[in-house]
Amino acid sequence: MIQIAVLGYGTVGSGVVEVIEKNKDMVNKKSGDEIEVKYILDLRDFPGDPYEAKVVHDFDVIVNDPEVRIICETMGGVGAAYQFTKAALEKGISVCTSNKELVAMHGPELLTIAREHNCNYLFEASVGGGIPIIRPLNYSLTAEKIEKITGILNGTTNYMLSKMEREGVAYEDVLRRAQEKGYAERNPEADVEGHDACRKIAILSSLMMGKNVDSSKIYTEGITAITAADFAYAKACKKSIKLLAVSQLISDDEVLAMVSPVMIDAENPLSMVNGVFNAVMVTGNMLGDSMYYGKGAGKLPTASAVVSDVVDCARHLGKVIMCFWDKEDAKLACVDDMTRAFFVRAKAGVQDAVKAAFPGGESITIPGRTEDFGYFTGRMTEKEFAAKYDSLGDKVLGRIRME
Ligand code: HSE
Repeated sequence: MIQIAVLGYGTVGSGVVEVIEKNKDMVNKKSGDEIEVKYILDLRDFPGDPYEAKVVHDFDVIVNDPEVRIICETMGGVGAAYQFTKAALEKGISVCTSNKELVAMHGPELLTIAREHNCNYLFEASVGGGIPIIRPLNYSLTAEKIEKITGILNGTTNYMLSKMEREGVAYEDVLRRAQEKGYAERNPEADVEGHDACRKIAILSSLMMGKNVDSSKIYTEGITAITAADFAYAKACKKSIKLLAVSQLISDDEVLAMVSPVMIDAENPLSMVNGVFNAVMVTGNMLGDSMYYGKGAGKLPTASAVVSDVVDCARHLGKVIMCFWDKEDAKLACVDDMTRAFFVRAKAGVQDAVKAAFPGGESITIPGRTEDFGYFTGRMTEKEFAAKYDSLGDKVLGRIRME
């Protein structure tokens, strides 16, 4: 029997217990041993809960119990979660987590501690919820040089953008509806400003490079400036607008990582990813594109990924599962130097000024819309575009990167 503990009995933590209970036979068979939840750490008590007796309030009870071999950290945050994870790994207890913030911030350090103590720090649930993406990058695509990862990594913003696209509603309305449905937090900043997607692409970029990609250095733009009018133009051109998290190899030792809304063609498979779903497109130099799609959030999908890590840890007790993510910082390319085309929305009547700033582009008007027009620029560097766009002052109403 392998005894485990769950830190945090919230949405994901209670999901972990549920997955282990509901899929007991399968989980035990695949682990090669019986998995038993011995402790649940939480500040609260849970009177009447079937696992009430397993709830403890003191982490020391768990970390000092030699029977505990695996811990699921589903607390979130980078304070106590970091201290507890470190203490567990230093005792040789493997840790499986859904905590993307902690993985993005302390991943290489915690992986090193795990390696030094013959245990594992696994984080399948930290990116893409229930979608297997960490394991494919670590163990499946090992014959590939990964050239690019493009992901829709945030379910809340994808739900919001999908609603805006389908129903033509304004950002504020769709945010309110997402909050009512429980998809968006009361303070939605981490999602709508792109910070959540940024942490996730930092993790994927680090695995792609085998070196650390610091999330605080990734250019990040959220969806707060996207309007119903932008979608009207996207629709008229058979395009979609998605919050994309991208990591692209620029040279063998340089990577471009960024998060921003991007207008993509209807033929792009990512344009078909709607609602709270996530998807990750991985481009390898031999395989070409492969895509991973599914539920990127939610209690049971996320818990399922945590439990898949528990099974992996159970199969590798006392052995280290290789994960290439060094402490050394990867070289990050400067976004300013990247070349692409842009969509610009401008006030009606300023066509000449926009064409003069971006010669050779293409205008688009929508019958019945008199207040503005759209313009697709040619390819240019981000820096060149920003200077020209800024020079247009209040003539322009918004801009979106093109794929
Ligand atoms: N807030 C995140 C999302 C939860 O909307 O995708 C999963 O990480």
